[in-house]
Amino acid sequence: LVMGVDSSTQSCKVVVMDATTGLVVREGRAPHPVGTEVDPSAWWTALQAAITEAGGLEGVAAWAISGQQHGMVALDADGRVIRPALLWHSTRSAGAAADLVAEFGAHALAQRTGLVPVASFTITKLRWLRDHEPDNAAQVAAVALPHDWLTWRLRGYGPVGESERGPVLDELITDRSDASGTGYWSPEDWAPGADGYDRELFVAALRRDAVLPRVLAPREWVTDAAGRRVGPGAGDNAGAALGVGAVPGDAVVSIGTSGTVFAVSEHRTIDSSGTVAGFADADGHFLPIVVTMNAARVLDAIAKLLDVDHAELSRLALEAAPGADGLTLVPYFEGERTPNLPHATASLTGMTLASSTRENLARAAVEGMLSGLRAGLTALRDLGVPLHRVLLIGGAAQSPAVRQIAPEVFGIPVEVPKPGEYVALGAARQAARILE
Ligand code: XUL
Repeated sequence: LVMGVDSSTQSCKVVVMDATTGLVVREGRAPHPVGTEVDPSAWWTALQAAITEAGGLEGVAAWAISGQQHGMVALDADGRVIRPALLWHSTRSAGAAADLVAEFGAHALAQRTGLVPVASFTITKLRWLRDHEPDNAAQVAAVALPHDWLTWRLRGYGPVGESERGPVLDELITDRSDASGTGYWSPEDWAPGADGYDRELFVAALRRDAVLPRVLAPREWVTDAAGRRVGPGAGDNAGAALGVGAVPGDAVVSIGTSGTVFAVSEHRTIDSSGTVAGFADADGHFLPIVVTMNAARVLDAIAKLLDVDHAELSRLALEAAPGADGLTLVPYFEGERTPNLPHATASLTGMTLASSTRENLARAAVEGMLSGLRAGLTALRDLGVPLHRVLLIGGAAQSPAVRQIAPEVFGIPVEVPKPGEYVALGAARQAARILE
């Protein structure tokens, strides 16, 4: 048996899979607090609860953890978390992102790291810490991402008194995909055994160096305190790519708390405009990605406004004609990441006496959300990434209106794989591979 974990923005999901048949035999899930700043101990509690619900680690020979990307988990020399983690959807470091771009230049940063900093990326959170909480910044001895930190904890490391193996910071590990979302790691230069971090950028952000997790190759492994094999894990998008079995030519559109559009690519992409982030994947390739922050929540907001549930919102949307009689929702409810408009608000235009119906508003919500994702597909194509079909996943992929309207908006065949915990499954698949 192998175990895969998805520690997402909302909750922790665990699947225990038979490594030979690929069948999921046990599952567990536990919620944790949701917010743009969360105490990592809440993820740890949720992980333990989800593992217990999934029948524990009994019979598990290998495991790997996938998780929400970019979150800054700052540790002191005793392995303690210094402050709540600043997460990917916090926009408070937008100014720090602008400062880093002004200092180094968008083109140079894209060349060096694959990314042009926006508030989501870890590097901007470190700069924010340095600027706004210098006392906390001065204590930083190591910086990890959510999946790195949980892997470290589950392997038995942590503060004295809270862990079996103690605060051994050098035992922090990560993988290419999550390292590539930090803004201080270069997907190009890295080879197994190499460090790969751009220390100059890291120090420019935090004004001091620190321990950074060792980047493992996709099939490399370490062990936990009980001797089980532990894979490098992955960022959640790379985990989903593994779990859904995406191959070059597929675009994956995931509509959840974030809306992501990504493709497995054999080539590294560099986009100095910052629209496409040049991530690495969890399998030795690359994962060019476009991320919007206004995804499932657009539907949540309009359902709430109309005082209907999601089934009714979908039904209403399908009663309206394509284009919603000119009613257009630009859904940047709490700022947007792509395009980089951290302080934007949403707007509804085209309201006439005839167009202002509940049906049109529901349709405008679905079309507005999907249009943001279509822009992502276009941006990937413009960089030469081949796209033959879209695999639509995430909670909102279950909405009949989203499934029906998506091919119209995207102009490309759309397949909806059966609902599944693809991120956790991807981690489980990685764990199965390290047993081979
Ligand atoms: C990716 C991103 C989000 C989070 C969500 O760049 O910010 O998809 O990984 O968990």
